Amino acid sequence: MKEILIKAEHEYAVCVGANWRETVTEISKNYSKVLILAPRVIVEALGLKSLESKSLAIFTLPEGEDQKSAKTLEEIWSHCAQISLTRKDVIVAIGGGATTDIGGFAAATWLRGIDWYAIPTTVAGMVDAAIGGKTGMNTPAGKNLVGAFYSPNSVCIDFSLLKTLPKREIQAGMAEVIKCGFISDPQILELVIDYEANIEELIERSIQVKADVVSVDFKEGKLREILNYGHTLGHAIEKRENYKWRHGEAISIGLVFAAELGQICAGLDREIVDRHRSILTRFDLPVTYQKMAFEELLGYMSNDKKSRNSKLRFIAISKLGEPVWLEEVTSDQIALAYERICT
Ligand SMILES: NC(=O)c1ccc[n+]([C@@H]2O[C@H](COP(=O)([O-])OP(=O)(O)OC[C@H]3O[C@@H](n4cnc5c(N)ncnc54)[C@H](O)[C@@H]3O)[C@@H](O)[C@H]2O)c1
Repeated sequence: MKEILIKAEHEYAVCVGANWRETVTEISKNYSKVLILAPRVIVEALGLKSLESKSLAIFTLPEGEDQKSAKTLEEIWSHCAQISLTRKDVIVAIGGGATTDIGGFAAATWLRGIDWYAIPTTVAGMVDAAIGGKTGMNTPAGKNLVGAFYSPNSVCIDFSLLKTLPKREIQAGMAEVIKCGFISDPQILELVIDYEANIEELIERSIQVKADVVSVDFKEGKLREILNYGHTLGHAIEKRENYKWRHGEAISIGLVFAAELGQICAGLDREIVDRHRSILTRFDLPVTYQKMAFEELLGYMSNDKKSRNSKLRFIAISKLGEPVWLEEVTSDQIALAYERICT
């Protein structure tokens, strides 16, 4: 097992190659009451109900984005009250990014904050959602607009949890891994060629990239923005698709668009732009989008919470592993980059 340390409001470890069962046993020894939150698919796959006892309760969450709702959060709080979860007790979130987001937010809000542990079970959860302390939920006003920076006590990365993960989820998660390769660790771009053999190293390297960034800039001052490579257009596509696409699928198109912008505005080599396309398509991820959607996407990008002073800003790269902040992109440049990713 390898520990990757993250410096946030407190320092904590991401335990790469840990065992989820041993982690839960260890947590149970240190707290008088444990509340495990997990979606049904995980409750069943891991046989979590067999762990239930006087001091360990299981709360089954809905699947996917449905769990990141006010309704689910209220149900979790009611359950916390029902089992008398005190400030000295603990929440353990076992699931994908949606579960660690809502589990962490439940921990942040119950009794104004109790300890929590994250055990991510998707590639996206392991390399992204469970790392970096952002927790939250969706509201009718938008996705992830309500939340808290509230880091877990530790994150357990157990690769065996990926065995039951559908192929589409693995492929979507790879978009974030590939992003880490382009912005910071080009070795990742070699290792993805044989991703099945290298999946553990790929996940570990991607966690290291995010850990290094958030340890310097926990609350998204500037450096952390590099993690948004591909996300400005990606978020707009997710919205236009009514969040029916997997996050990584939208990010995949966003990455190619950001690469084209990098070529236009920051002199990125054409060969590296094309490398985005060739690597992402290996995972059956989309790299083009509809021409007629441009105006609508522009509108969504302008409303994105990450745009400042109504100016569109983008993260691009000028070379492999060298992110740049594009603050003054003209509408012609945006249109040209979009033209290049159109079907
Ligand atoms: N907090 C952050 O910094 C951050 C970063 C990125 C994404 N996110 C959030 O993460 C969420 C997306 O995460 P995700 O892609 O992991 O999706 P998800 O949590 O919705 O999981 C995807 C699906 O896979 C199922 N699943 C999970 N693990 C499984 C396993 N091992 N075997 C079989 N099925 C399994 C889930 O029940 C769900 O139906 C979004 O809500 C997004 O906003 C948060």
